[in-house]
Amino acid sequence: MYTSPTSPSLCRSPRVTVIGAGRVGSTLAQRIAEKNLANVVLLDILQGMPQGLALDLMEARGIELHHRQIIGTNDYADTFDSDIVVITAGFPRKPGMTRDNLLLTNAKIVVSAAKNAIAHSPNAVFIIVTNPLDVMTYLAWQVTGLPPYRIMGMAGVLDSARFETFIAMELGVLPADVKAMVLGSHGDLMVPLSRCATVHGIPVTELLDTATIERLVQRTRRGGAEIVELMQTGGAFFAPASAACVMVESILLNQHRLLPVAAYLQGEYGLKDIFLGVPCRLGCGGIENLVELSLIDEELAELHASAQAVKQNIDKVQGVLV
Ligand code: NAI
Ligand code: 2OP
Repeated sequence: MYTSPTSPSLCRSPRVTVIGAGRVGSTLAQRIAEKNLANVVLLDILQGMPQGLALDLMEARGIELHHRQIIGTNDYADTFDSDIVVITAGFPRKPGMTRDNLLLTNAKIVVSAAKNAIAHSPNAVFIIVTNPLDVMTYLAWQVTGLPPYRIMGMAGVLDSARFETFIAMELGVLPADVKAMVLGSHGDLMVPLSRCATVHGIPVTELLDTATIERLVQRTRRGGAEIVELMQTGGAFFAPASAACVMVESILLNQHRLLPVAAYLQGEYGLKDIFLGVPCRLGCGGIENLVELSLIDEELAELHASAQAVKQNIDKVQGVLV
């Protein structure tokens, strides 16, 4: 019988805190655990609810064959020393609402969540999911004081996945063979780059006519609203959780994936002091680098229109911070 000397770096499991144990948050917790990526702390203001979800997820461990711990809590102290904090706390849209209708209510929630989380995990990378996404990411960055490479918003991965899905459905091909990127804000002014979309390297512009592509672009822009209208009881959460999980995975496993994320711009694309969806390489420190594409005039104009709408909302909500 002997005792091995412990190596803290080898023994420590990665830890991801998910704030907001609603539909997106709990599904994300499930994805992270079942992909065996990290232990998960699930936090919500509702008493008992994250604890119940965590226990339910723990009871599936033997069946799903993973060994991750999931704990549910209402106390930020339990989130200590997380490697990644994902904020999904806040209200989703109801039918007829835009993401911007959620502005003031969700701003207060995100500001409070970000301040509490950074106090317990000063070295974490932050991923914001709550809507309106680009504004919430900006606010979280302001109140945490994080360097821009350690905070980002999730939307582009989801919007790109929707664009790819619609292209795949139109052509009757496997979605995994379609590659497309959506830049800009997470809203009606998002910028799907149809010029760059391909099916296994073949430009989509060679496979579909202009009118069809435009129809798919418009469907992508309304991708979230389409689901809200169908469900009537909230918004999408399966694909949003998958999209956030891809970002978590690329950071935790240092995969260097090039993904569209809402990142802080400091002059790139002619834009400053704003979070907006652009291609970024994600690795263990967060955003390793931000790629500045040579957009054509029309795409750049759309990106700037998108940015202007986000700026207006940032101005509207600044009072929440004082
Ligand atoms: P949900 O209503 O199912 O869950 C939200 C959770 O936040 C609830 O459990 C609620 O108790 C909790 N919460 C509220 N205030 C809190 C606080 N101060 N601290 C901790 N928890 C708090 O909503 P769902 O569907 O999970 O959506 C969450 C947010 O994510 C919404 O704002 C939604 O619009 C957004 N969203 C963003 C997407 C994106 O692409 N960026 C995609 C899908 C959703
Ligand atoms: C979505 O795009 C509502 O932002 C959410 O599904």
